[in-house]
Parts: sequence; C-alpha cells; structure tokens
Amino acid sequence: MKDRREFIKIGALGTVGLLTNTACAQNDSEDNTTGVLEDKGTTKPIVVSTWNHGEAANKAAWEILEKNGTALDAVEAGVRVTESDPENMTVGLGGLPDRDGNVTLDACIMDHQSRCGSVAFLQHIENPISVARKVMEDTPHVMLAGQGALEFALQSGFKKTDLLTEKAKDAWQKWLKKADYKPVINRENHDTIGMLALDAEGNLSGACTTSGLAYKMHGRVGDSPIIGAGLFVDNEVGAACATGVGEAVIRVAGSAMIVELMRQGKSPEEACKEMVKRILAKHPSEKDMQVGFIALNKNGEFGCYSIYEGFNIALNDNKRNKMIDASYEKKWDRN
Ligand code: GLY
Repeated sequence: MKDRREFIKIGALGTVGLLTNTACAQNDSEDNTTGVLEDKGTTKPIVVSTWNHGEAANKAAWEILEKNGTALDAVEAGVRVTESDPENMTVGLGGLPDRDGNVTLDACIMDHQSRCGSVAFLQHIENPISVARKVMEDTPHVMLAGQGALEFALQSGFKKTDLLTEKAKDAWQKWLKKADYKPVINRENHDTIGMLALDAEGNLSGACTTSGLAYKMHGRVGDSPIIGAGLFVDNEVGAACATGVGEAVIRVAGSAMIVELMRQGKSPEEACKEMVKRILAKHPSEKDMQVGFIALNKNGEFGCYSIYEGFNIALNDNKRNKMIDASYEKKWDRN
C-alpha cells in the first residue's frame, strides 16, 4: 500500500510520466489472486467494489451473499454503507458540495434481468441508491433527475436530510478562498463507490453512487447515474463499473463497452485495460485525469485497471476478503 500522503496532492502535480505498470495488481498478492480461476470453475458468490471504502461496503454485501441472498440486495446494501458514512467525502452524506455549497448526488443500479434505475442531481436524500432501486421497481422509467427525483423520493417515504456536514462545509469554504477548480481523483480524494456482485444463483447485479466531482458546476452530472457509462450489467456476460472523471467515461460509454469486450472474449482485466487505453487515446492532452474500471464476468472472474496508479478494489468471496491494487497505465511524475 502506498504512503497515504503521496496521493493527497496528486492533482496539483505537474507533468506525468508514461510508464506501463509491471506489478499487475492481481499477480502481486500473496495468495496469487489472479482474478482468473486456475480451474476455470465459477467463483460464486463474489463481490468487488471500488476504493478503500469498498471494504466496509463489501462486508454488508457479503452478509447477504453468504446467506444465498441476491446480488441485487447485496449491492444495494453494500453501497448504502458508504452513502451513510459522514466521514466519506465523495459519496452520499458528507459528500463535498458543488461550487455553490449544494451536495448533489448521482446513483444507479442494474440487475440480472437488465432492469435498471437511476437518479441524477438528487439533493437531500442520504441513500440515492435506494431511490434508484425504487425508480427501477416502482416506475415505468429508468432515470429521474433533480426536483422530480426528490419529489419521488419523498413520496416514496425517504426522509429529507441535510447532507452538508461541518467537515465538508469547512473544506468547501477553504476552497472558496481561491475557487481554483480542478477535478482531483486519487486514493484519498476519490469519487465513487461502484460495486458488482455475482450471487449463489449465478446472477449479476451492480450499483454505483457518488456525490460527484467536488466543487463541480451546479447541475453537473457525471457518469455514475448513466447506465452504460458508470455501470452496466448483462447477465449473459458480465458487469462493469467506473470511477474517476465522469466526463471521460461517458465519452466512451465505458462500462457498456467493457461488457461488450468481455462478450468478444476478453478477460475482465483485458477489457478494462482496453477502455483505459481508449480514454487516453481520446484525451491526448489531458493531464492528471484518473479513471478506473472494475469488471466481473459470469464465472466470477474479475479484473480492474486504471489510468494512474493508486486505484484499488475490495474483494470478497468464499476464500478471500482483501484489498487489491489495480494495474495501471501511468505513474504520477512528481518532479
Ligand atoms: N465518476 C463520478 C463523477 O464523475 O461524478
């Protein structure tokens, strides 16, 4: 694990060096966690999720999966933990606000029947993932946004909550002194929890939720609530989700493409890597832009890949409960 402080100011650093990572995350662990099963059997149940906050989220998801619960229930319960954690400043309650001081949330959920639900630009609701599930289950629509999403949530029994914690407010007020905007995504200041699960029945589901980029323009929506960008599930093939600068993920329909690449025979990690390379090719002059993907296929094989070092994922299955550093395309050049 890298020194925590190394990741804090990455966005302020200058040029980057292009280095292909040789320490493939899934090969550097003590128990040879490759994400690809040696016996080509199926690992199920299994859950994977983004960043360090995935550890606590996976625990809640695993409690459901190990009792033969559904992947859908597991991913919802899992990411709700992160949404309700006031110390987490990138998801749900306690998320950093937009430049005007509003905490605005995006989330989506998708199941093995290709049912999906999403909320975007939702304010005042602690668990947007559960509102997204209600959109999926109780409406003929996929996506509700803004005031309409809030009204639907309140009508559905969700409580109005002040999401701006003192800690987030202090950070925003400090930022206001310079109001120098730059998306910064790294291990400390990451942006999303994405979670993918395969249950004992062999069904896949995924969830993705975020407060979006800190100090974004009011009204900005990222990739996280967009089915096909922040999350995609096809129960015939696999599932994928994204973290990082949402605009870049939307431009390539990142998660849907990863699932298609797996359909064509790529391993989860190969598919994630190809989409990272595609994003880099389409953003040749972008510096310091982090994007990470995770993917899980029908056999319970998983993979992850990011533009920059520092992305990590949480994994739980019957044998493993661990954090894994993702493979990456570039090292930060701090000189
Ligand atoms: N990936 C989250 C966002 O860009 O809002």
